[in-house]
Amino acid sequence: MRLGSSIVIRSALQVRPVEDDEVPIWMQVANRGFHQPNRISPAGVELRRRTLIGQRPIAALDGGQIVGTFRSYDVELPVPGAAVPANAVSTVTVAASHRRRGALTAMMTADLTAARERGAVLSVLLASEAPIYGRFGFGPATEECKWTLDAASARFRDDPVGDGLLSLELVEDGDLAEAAPAVYAAAASRMPGAMPRDQLWWQIALGAIEVPWDDPKLTRPALLVRDRAGQAVGTASYRAEPARSGRRHRVDLQLLDLTAPTPAAHLALWRALAELDLVETITAPRRASHDPLPWLLADRRAARQSELSDFLWVRLLDVAAALRARRYAGAGRVVLEVIEPGGGRERLLLNVEPTGSTGSAKVAAGIEKPDLVPGMGRAEVSVSTDEPDVVLEVGALGSAYLGQVPLYQLHAAGQVTEHTPGAVAALGALLAWTPTAAVTQTSF
Ligand SMILES: CC(C)(COP(=O)(O)OP(=O)(O)OC[C@H]1O[C@@H](n2cnc3c(N)ncnc32)[C@H](O)[C@@H]1OP(=O)(O)O)[C@@H](O)C(=O)NCCC(=O)NCCS
Repeated sequence: MRLGSSIVIRSALQVRPVEDDEVPIWMQVANRGFHQPNRISPAGVELRRRTLIGQRPIAALDGGQIVGTFRSYDVELPVPGAAVPANAVSTVTVAASHRRRGALTAMMTADLTAARERGAVLSVLLASEAPIYGRFGFGPATEECKWTLDAASARFRDDPVGDGLLSLELVEDGDLAEAAPAVYAAAASRMPGAMPRDQLWWQIALGAIEVPWDDPKLTRPALLVRDRAGQAVGTASYRAEPARSGRRHRVDLQLLDLTAPTPAAHLALWRALAELDLVETITAPRRASHDPLPWLLADRRAARQSELSDFLWVRLLDVAAALRARRYAGAGRVVLEVIEPGGGRERLLLNVEPTGSTGSAKVAAGIEKPDLVPGMGRAEVSVSTDEPDVVLEVGALGSAYLGQVPLYQLHAAGQVTEHTPGAVAALGALLAWTPTAAVTQTSF
């Protein structure tokens, strides 16, 4: 199905691409849907137009009036050991006056069909509410949480800066413009599900472009970590606020962004932030729940996790291509039966062979170690008529696909059926993946 033409849905609603002159009203409908302030300046419209370049904004209309918004765009999404062509979905709203009349269903169905035809192997989104997207075959695949570090009491086990492995520069966020994109790209490639950040994203984040709907832009303090060769290997930016305890001259740091492609850079950044004078606590939202922060500390209880939630949702559009594209931690053979939301079933043999060592990787400045990514098995995937070892819905496989949601949890919750004893453990071991970098999750 192409979105170049319009489609009619139940209750006489229509779905079609947004014209350029409709962008302001499309923005207003979207803002209203998310209960955001709705006074949109010409500069705001201009910036939105720039973000929409190369994207696919669509609308649901009732008699010519926009009542629903939706956009999607292409990304190369990091998955275990590889990156795949993916379709990112965002700005999904339907006006309260027209909800529950099938507008979302029509926009989503048209977009997923078009994405599949374009060759996207999966689609991703962030869900405002958990019950919305399972019916379309999406499953939650990564988690986010807020970490709070009691900086005043934190003691770190190691000191890569003190040991001379890394060096640290105190800069402003605008100074990161040259180094940060490459550091992030290196980290994201080691972090399945980390959304790519384009040039415009960086210009907005680092203050090169003013955001009309945001607070007036102030420069923010930042840290840059370099290895012995002088190469940038980590970045962080933050904002300071008066400490909640009200004590004078004490501050809480709000971490805005922290990117570390290596464990040593991660440690160096957290340690440097915690050791800044006058800092009481550091809060870091949108971090992975499996962040190693507590393990960096002599007293792991100085780090607390809160606000745990799902982050990226994955909808596998071409299951065989998706399974073929990623790498695996080991080897094995499993026959899977994957159930689509409409009830369709696809039976596939997943045959993972080890490809041998991938050589070495630089895991910290000056330290070469065998690649931390284990196995790097490659899969052959073919249609099978054998009895399935494991049966699961496409949303459950989407949840496990990035290697961060353990398959045994989905099995224990009844979302995966095991027909061959041990098959869930075997498939779970294949799909599991160790992220070897740390990033702040990117909203989109
Ligand atoms: C979420 C939203 C886009 C749904 O749009 P919609 O046009 O009402 O959805 P549809 O009519 O296509 O609903 C399809 C099905 O999903 C269900 N559904 C839709 N939204 C739901 C929600 N928030 N919670 C639970 N179920 C929901 C509907 O009941 C319907 O079920 P049915 O087929 O069994 O009748 C709309 O309610 C909205 O704009 N909400 C506020 C903004 C928002 O949260 N957007 C999502 C951003 S990620």
